[in-house]
Amino acid sequence: MTIEEFNSKYLVNREGTNSQKWDTIKDRRFKVGGLIPMWVADMEFRAPDEVIEALNKRVNHGVFGYTVLWDSYFEAFFNWQKKRYNIDLKEEWINFSTGLVTALYWLVNAYTNKGDSVVILTPVYYPFHNAVKDNERNLIKCELKNDNGVFSIDFEKLEDDIVKNNVKLMIFCNPHNPAGRVWTDEEIDKTFDICKRHNVYIVSDEIHQDINLGYRPFISALSIKNKDKYMDRLVVLTSPSKTFNLACLLNSHIVIPDEKMREKYNKFVNTVNRTELSLLGMVAAEAAYRYGEDWVDGLLKTIRRNYEYIRDELKAKVPEIITSPLEGTYLPFIDLRKVVNPDRVKEFIQDDCKIAIDFGEWFSDNCKGFIRVNVATDFKYIEEFVNKVSSQLKNKNYK
Ligand SMILES: Cc1ncc(COP(=O)(O)O)c(C=O)c1O
Repeated sequence: MTIEEFNSKYLVNREGTNSQKWDTIKDRRFKVGGLIPMWVADMEFRAPDEVIEALNKRVNHGVFGYTVLWDSYFEAFFNWQKKRYNIDLKEEWINFSTGLVTALYWLVNAYTNKGDSVVILTPVYYPFHNAVKDNERNLIKCELKNDNGVFSIDFEKLEDDIVKNNVKLMIFCNPHNPAGRVWTDEEIDKTFDICKRHNVYIVSDEIHQDINLGYRPFISALSIKNKDKYMDRLVVLTSPSKTFNLACLLNSHIVIPDEKMREKYNKFVNTVNRTELSLLGMVAAEAAYRYGEDWVDGLLKTIRRNYEYIRDELKAKVPEIITSPLEGTYLPFIDLRKVVNPDRVKEFIQDDCKIAIDFGEWFSDNCKGFIRVNVATDFKYIEEFVNKVSSQLKNKNYK
């Protein structure tokens, strides 16, 4: 699908629809009105027509009682994973949760005890930090290396951090939010090898798997060359919720290939989760996986166009700003430190430019002065973002 087709068919106005992204800015998160919402990872695009048709059909049936899993769900989900990423899944590996953040909280409990150390690669999605801290585990933040905006894993530091703190679990993010990296087979293998040698469990959050801008292939923890080596310690999280913007239909997957790992998981989860599946979430997911390829094609072209516009225009207009290469996710990370004093980022972007973004320090203490911007939106906001940022920097000195 072309960018024009995708946008004319699927772009929607979400204001006044109880959208967290649009309708909580004034009263809750940012406490001021009139900001362009380019923050939380949520898009302005309607789900594929086939998803809405499938939901309508089920809704029109009118019964929403207890429901069991059905075979064609797995067929659609497994085909998507096989065709796009060469991942072979088995039904007994699949567990469900109402969201990946909920899953992270469960997994921290299932595989570690209070006081144990859990490592994350910062800057990273802030609920990773919270899932560890809220559960009274010891949070180890291993900072990624940042070479002029290109993030990479500091393997020596990672091993050192794991050994020194007797780490029990690593939460890995691929594609990495907000560093924008799609990790290579070699990078994943090296990271997991360190975990294996020091007996560390691995949770790989792959929620952004489909949001790959095409600069390098996405490789899952379940499809790296040495995958068999790590199955005894691996949990992979996937969901159609980022790809198709279905987060509030509350359906995501916790993939656990190893039987002993599943036993450990069940031992904990059976004490906290007795809910049924999300019926409508599964109906939507099946249709999305079965019919959503063309829609995703239009989405990815749109995201890539929007990201490249920001990257190229900012480089031309304010060359001191560093936009990290965005390989995956729709959330480029932008380093303003050369033009804005890190203590004045809020004044610059929120008070003066009137744009709501995610602040760098939400992801890492070291990233004050960065902003994370959501580009899965109307191109007019992308243009406004560039215009406001570049003209405001000319109007006022923020150093
Ligand atoms: C890496 C990552 N994991 C999980 C989530 C949220 O998942 P859920 O809505 O299923 O809790 C996000 C949302 O942006 C994310 O970026």
